Amino acid sequence: MAKLPEGFLWGGALAAHQFEGGWNAGGKGPSVVDVMTAGAHGVPRKITQTIEADEFYPNHEAIDFYHRYKEDIALFAEMGLKCLRTSIGWSRIFPKGDEAEPNEAGLQFYDDVFDELLKHGIEPVITLSHFEMPLHLAREYGGFRSRKVADYFVKFAEVCFGRYKDKVKYWMTFNEINNQMDVHNPLFLWTNSGVTVKEGEDAKEVMYQVAHHELVASALAVAKGKAINPEFQIGAMVSHVPIYPYSCNPEDIMLAEEEMRQRYFFPDVHVRGYYPSYALKEFERKGYQIPFQEGDEEILRNGTVDYLGFSYYMSTTVKSDIQQDHTGDIINGALPNGVANPYIKASDWGWAIDPTGLRYTLNRFYDRYQIPLFIVENGFGAVDTLEADGSIHDPERIAYLRSHIEELEKAVNYDGVDLMGYTPWGIIDIVSFTTGEMKKRYGMIYVDRDNEGHGSMKRYKKDSFAWYHKVIETNGEEL
Ligand code: BG6
Repeated sequence: MAKLPEGFLWGGALAAHQFEGGWNAGGKGPSVVDVMTAGAHGVPRKITQTIEADEFYPNHEAIDFYHRYKEDIALFAEMGLKCLRTSIGWSRIFPKGDEAEPNEAGLQFYDDVFDELLKHGIEPVITLSHFEMPLHLAREYGGFRSRKVADYFVKFAEVCFGRYKDKVKYWMTFNEINNQMDVHNPLFLWTNSGVTVKEGEDAKEVMYQVAHHELVASALAVAKGKAINPEFQIGAMVSHVPIYPYSCNPEDIMLAEEEMRQRYFFPDVHVRGYYPSYALKEFERKGYQIPFQEGDEEILRNGTVDYLGFSYYMSTTVKSDIQQDHTGDIINGALPNGVANPYIKASDWGWAIDPTGLRYTLNRFYDRYQIPLFIVENGFGAVDTLEADGSIHDPERIAYLRSHIEELEKAVNYDGVDLMGYTPWGIIDIVSFTTGEMKKRYGMIYVDRDNEGHGSMKRYKKDSFAWYHKVIETNGEEL
């Protein structure tokens, strides 16, 4: 394969709640994820609202990076990572969320982690909010239903920007802020925004109201960050599952076009700084009240992002002459017209494997926004077997990643897309977000821990570890 441009950020991606553990260490408060039990493929995670003695919460200990960060970062360095994308656990810094002063022990933890990364030449890429809102803000304020929570987020952002201004250059405000577009699955509004929908409410309207507060909070944070350090690169982050028309039937084409607005709404506001006309028309049609305050238009205009980060795992397909009940179906995003794509195979968890969809996405985004893009999640969740000699053979993961890198290379070197980097998801095995399982593994480093929390926590290198090392060393030339 041809090389990627010099300085291309090869890395790995993680999120605090999925790997740190230490859920109540160093003064950390419980977050919205700390009350989520383990589920399985097809079995949703329960949100228990409080911590129940007889429930198992897989994120509490996760893979215990909190106590093992030096050992883990040494492995990341050995793999050759140029950057590590992770998040700052909001409730480590503000345990309840509404305190006047931040928690020094939490701030110090990230100082230690960033120093360790920088010592090894690994650039931190930081998400401010990756499903880690302090539980108190969700329970007492209704999460982002309240404008006050937007203020608390901005304060949190400001504290982080100020403290780490010389250690972190690349930031993102909200992880996969658009997951909550799927209002049928309570997991998403809860983890994105700390919100549960009440009986009798129009869930979509609630979602847009909450989203407004987050979009304003994001824009305010961007402006504050730029004032603190003009060198900062602050991005947005969305989950992108492109929606294909099933056929060349114009009805399928138009349906896919319309459905894609669910994907574009958030980046349209983040990147352009104003609400797109199709959304305003939808609010008008449905009589939705969006809590705009005086000055919000200006805030949005002045807080546009420098780059667009996104996750890409799969694509989906819609057919105009079919109506199914996909409520609660994570894969098809509960799209009533969603159908399986006959040209595409899926993983054991039903996620469609579609490398070409990554090139397609890069082109659609770049055509639409003309700002740098950053693939901050991509990967293959699968079952791995630890052999008696400590080896783990994961040819399917290598094949998945290789095929996606081939496509991103075409997007860069053939199509001319400005791509900052690539950070495959879950570079070390972590707790799955949607299912809470350990068994759904993405890592190139295996962690000996099972779904019930048993295991030595020992780390082992999978075959993909050496493979990815070579890819980075040759800047993509040897795949
Ligand atoms: C994204 C999230 O949705 O996909 C991650 O940003 C998540 O937090 C990842 O882990 C993969 O999803 P899952 O459910 O397989 O862990």
